[in-house]
Amino acid sequence: MNMTTSTGKLPGHPFLHRRGQQLMLEEVPLADLAARWGTPLFVYSKASMLAALAAYQRGLAGRKAQICYAMKANSSLAVLQLFARAGCGFDIVSGGELERVLAAGGDPAKVIFSGVGKTRAEMAQALRAGIGCFNVESESELDVLHRVASELGRIAPVSLRVNPNVDAKTHPYISTGLKDNKFGIAHENALAAYRHAASLSGLRVVGIDCHIGSQITDSAPYLDTIDRILDLVEEIEKAGIAIAHIDLGGGLGISYNGEAPPAADDLWSALLARFDARGHGGRQFMIEPGRSLVGNAGVCLTEVLYLKPGEEKNFCIVDAAMNDLPRPAMYEAFHQIVAVCENPGPGTLYDVVGPVCESGDWLGRQRLLHVAPGELLAVLSAGAYCMSMASNYNTRGRPAEVLVDGSQVHLIREREDARDQMRSERLV
Ligand code: LLP
Repeated sequence: MNMTTSTGKLPGHPFLHRRGQQLMLEEVPLADLAARWGTPLFVYSKASMLAALAAYQRGLAGRKAQICYAMKANSSLAVLQLFARAGCGFDIVSGGELERVLAAGGDPAKVIFSGVGKTRAEMAQALRAGIGCFNVESESELDVLHRVASELGRIAPVSLRVNPNVDAKTHPYISTGLKDNKFGIAHENALAAYRHAASLSGLRVVGIDCHIGSQITDSAPYLDTIDRILDLVEEIEKAGIAIAHIDLGGGLGISYNGEAPPAADDLWSALLARFDARGHGGRQFMIEPGRSLVGNAGVCLTEVLYLKPGEEKNFCIVDAAMNDLPRPAMYEAFHQIVAVCENPGPGTLYDVVGPVCESGDWLGRQRLLHVAPGELLAVLSAGAYCMSMASNYNTRGRPAEVLVDGSQVHLIREREDARDQMRSERLV
């Protein structure tokens, strides 16, 4: 299937293009990387990540603002290092993620800690590291954080994650701003929770946050959220509790299959107009984008192992699987799949599947491809929530990762082998 434009660009993937038949990321032919490091292989474009970040930075220019990369999208050290050097803070959800930020040279003061189930050990670790803010998700978490901070003789900076009850109109598994899910504090209980937080000596209220969901491709849910949050901010401040920053949670969705989310700078100009109109333009703004910074910066290269024609369906069996790319199996998510070297001529419809022993192990259904065993496919939009969600199911080693920078390439993670996986195990 030829999805390239006349300029050789793939829509939605500005750093991926064809030179002749060859698929290139920036200045690097992807086939060369597969030949050198094998498959499955994740490859990321540095320029693509920085361009995605720059759109947020432009949108927030001239304001007090902090962009905290939601590292759950892709937590590889070199990716964190790139964003740390570009001035980002980080949105973390575990003590492990905090260790990664520190190992990558991130500034703990720019770290915010989200999540409904922080343990006491993780709270203590984050307090010792001096993180910028805990995004607290329940009243009982406030009490525990107060006790842990008091025991350490520290004061925990807190923001309460308020559930605005806004429908992000995204997949139910990644929609988080509605009443009936586990996240955040209900809007109607928020003022009482803020009063409680302000009464605890181990805590200092610094902000308010929310997160309505992921893969949002429209600005309307954000605009609805702002109004709900500002109503609350005004109420909380009337009660004598100052709110320094407003954190709008995760970032925009990306184009997997022709979706057209607004550009981050356009989104922010609409959001800031709303903040300004209500007299809140001088606040400190925060946002926690994950997917939109890395998703379309990455591809996963995989080799075709076998073609298996069938009566009902044809299968294209590749060497990447649901353990490497879990999104189709988990969310029935769509990722474009293209040949790394385009063959002329008509294609055949295939279900692209991996070697794992489950019928749910598919990467794409009914895809028109002209390929032969031994040839390479690229699964697109694989920079976010792929490697970071990869597992060792079927004792498959997780793939290697490469960062492309112009014509330079850096191996940023070696392929895992069975010995790596067995290292922490013991026979009895
Ligand atoms: N902040 C919080 C509190 C979050 O829970 C998330 C994502 C983000 C920020 C980042 O959202 P983003 O900018 O990436 O939309 N594994 C799923 C996505 C799960 C998102 C979970 N929370 C997927 O592959 O689609």
